[in-house]
Amino acid sequence: MTDSPMSPRLTEALTVVSQAVNSELDRLLPVSESPDSRVHEAMRYVTLDGGKRLRPFLVMQSASLFNVAESAAIRVACAIEMIHCYSLVHDDLPCMDDDDLRRGRPTCHKAFDEATALLAGDALLTKAFEVLVNPATHADPAVRCELVADLAHASGGQGMVGGQMIDLQAHTLDLDVAGITRLQQLKTGRLFSFSCEAGAVLGKAHGELRLALRNYAHDLGLAFQIADDILDVEGDVAEVGKRVNKDADAGKATFVSLLGLERAKSQADMLAEQACRHLDPFGEKADLMRDVARFVVRRRS
Ligand code: IPE
Ligand code: IPE
Ligand code: MG
Ligand code: MG
Ligand code: MG
Repeated sequence: MTDSPMSPRLTEALTVVSQAVNSELDRLLPVSESPDSRVHEAMRYVTLDGGKRLRPFLVMQSASLFNVAESAAIRVACAIEMIHCYSLVHDDLPCMDDDDLRRGRPTCHKAFDEATALLAGDALLTKAFEVLVNPATHADPAVRCELVADLAHASGGQGMVGGQMIDLQAHTLDLDVAGITRLQQLKTGRLFSFSCEAGAVLGKAHGELRLALRNYAHDLGLAFQIADDILDVEGDVAEVGKRVNKDADAGKATFVSLLGLERAKSQADMLAEQACRHLDPFGEKADLMRDVARFVVRRRS
């Protein structure tokens, strides 16, 4: 028997959030009986019942720090998961990473077809913003506008998409540690930052507390992506639920290729502990977020 990388309280809390996210996504993404039903089926296929749900969990946790109603936070949690799932669908396409396995199942373009996968990704991207602008997300239009602007920024050319662009060229760029750090911050970090700051936006908290969450997300996102790169080298395909050794096969520079496994691991551990310290202003209320930081570097999937 091996130790669980997750504390019992995190396991329990993550299960509760995953169930809430599943039922809200189920409601937000209905099946249709019309000729466009195929794209809706694909959207449901890639979003329901899968993944660790870390980004939604961070939205719910950061919202709870500011006593935001769960009914509002869950919508933002679903919006970020839609963006994340869209990014995975496109990331797996033959023109990008060309992967057949995701979350232990055939990737969207394998289960459906490439055109449907492209459209399902597009529709999830736009649906996320539709969810955010709905008054059910927050009564104050200024808050909804801020969420929309922040999510657009985190997802677009200055965020996740920009990071994906650099990632696709990483094998030709001769990136150093600073270059890889920037790539990872854009590709992975920005969506984590959105998730961690969303609670502060919903709770109209600015200044020091929001900055503390931003700093936490910065270190967490990097630690998370270093762990992803380590899993690509050390992970077991059955456990990870996606292909492994793909970074090395593609000749991609990662923290592991630059630092070696041992230094990459100690860098990830250091970042996770640093992330926890940024949460000091929240005291015990942020304990589950500390558990997330420790989990992401110990995870096996
Ligand atoms: C995978 O993210 C994509 C990366 C940013 C490395 P996750 O590891 O959070 O994927 P799921 O949502 O749990 O499947
Ligand atoms: C993908 O990074 C990150 C995004 C989808 C933005 P990777 O290509 O490393 O993710 P995996 O390893 O396929 O999950
Ligand atoms: Mg990729
Ligand atoms: Mg990939
Ligand atoms: Mg990867």
